Amino acid sequence: MTSTREISQLFCAAQNIDPTLSIKPRSLPRLSSLAIKAGKYNRNRLFKNMAAGKISIFKDFPSPLRTVRQRNLTNPTALILDAFYHSGIQDRIRTKSGKKEVWKYFTISELAEKWQRKKANINVTDLHFRDTPIENVIDSKRLSQFNLYPCSTEHASWLEMMTLVVSSRAGFSDSHSDDSDGSNHCFTGKKLWLAWDTNEGIANGLEDLDRQKITGKCAFDMETYLSLQSACWFTIETGQTLFMPGHLTHKVLTLEPYLGVGSFYLAFPNLLRTLTRWLAHPPNWEKLERKGYRDLLYPDLIKTAVKKLESLQHATENSKLMWGLDYLKYAINTWNRQTANAEKEKLLELGSLDNWSLKFPCSMKSSFVNIP
Ligand SMILES: [Fe+2]
Repeated sequence: MTSTREISQLFCAAQNIDPTLSIKPRSLPRLSSLAIKAGKYNRNRLFKNMAAGKISIFKDFPSPLRTVRQRNLTNPTALILDAFYHSGIQDRIRTKSGKKEVWKYFTISELAEKWQRKKANINVTDLHFRDTPIENVIDSKRLSQFNLYPCSTEHASWLEMMTLVVSSRAGFSDSHSDDSDGSNHCFTGKKLWLAWDTNEGIANGLEDLDRQKITGKCAFDMETYLSLQSACWFTIETGQTLFMPGHLTHKVLTLEPYLGVGSFYLAFPNLLRTLTRWLAHPPNWEKLERKGYRDLLYPDLIKTAVKKLESLQHATENSKLMWGLDYLKYAINTWNRQTANAEKEKLLELGSLDNWSLKFPCSMKSSFVNIP
């Protein structure tokens, strides 16, 4: 995507799904300057961006699709649809359907049929597939080998939310923000993402479903969006992988029928940044989970990280690289630079939760020093 003509065409198509994306011709150069393009996979960029809270998009990140040859199916879409039909997932999946966008429940087979018919209006982003036969086809580890969530306790590991994304054309997710940094891999299709810093957006009147009480659609104004310092947009297309920090509100439009996989991650490079953000602006899980949950979650995550850090001191060099351990020092320095003292103090106080006496960031630093 290079020319303003192509960008204009892209946003014209998007406008049919979301009329708020109407763009004035004079605003096209500004819109063009906000585009993020997919690049070649680069481990240095992934972990540095993760530490600094920046977006990474790769066109050749290793696909989580296993190279299995099931029933002679080699096409990724056919493989995934076949996995749906044989998934054994009994739960009915809730999604809006039809022109009137009425909430309905479907079996996974019905969902697959609807998606193939192309005319249906479905947008499922939370189809959990861990411990189902779908894992025979999709390797859930590949997207987040560095992810601490799956190593943590039951209280904490659910935050990973490894899910399939199944959207027909025009599937739309209104402006919202997720608690954790997230990854998205596209097996087939195309989505347009618009993103901006949650706090900057709210201060300027761009609403967020997860932060405010909204009736109807979130307020969004294109000119205001274009004026934000943090505004950016991009498409995620077949074979591409997105890694996005959790401080960004985003709205997402499906331009071509889409099958993908998404999950959330906490890793050594984004650990301090994520915990600090949660302490400054209470995350959604604080609203959803029972009282006292935060007093379980923070120590669980901290203990998981420290234990992993300790075990990695005796691990192979490859393991350390896989966990992004060589970017921990960079992450701590970035966190020190980007974080106000009052917010740092809040994180240090976490050490006293649940009688957990560890001064966490200090421990991270000293542990890092001990790593050869
Ligand atoms: Fe999201």
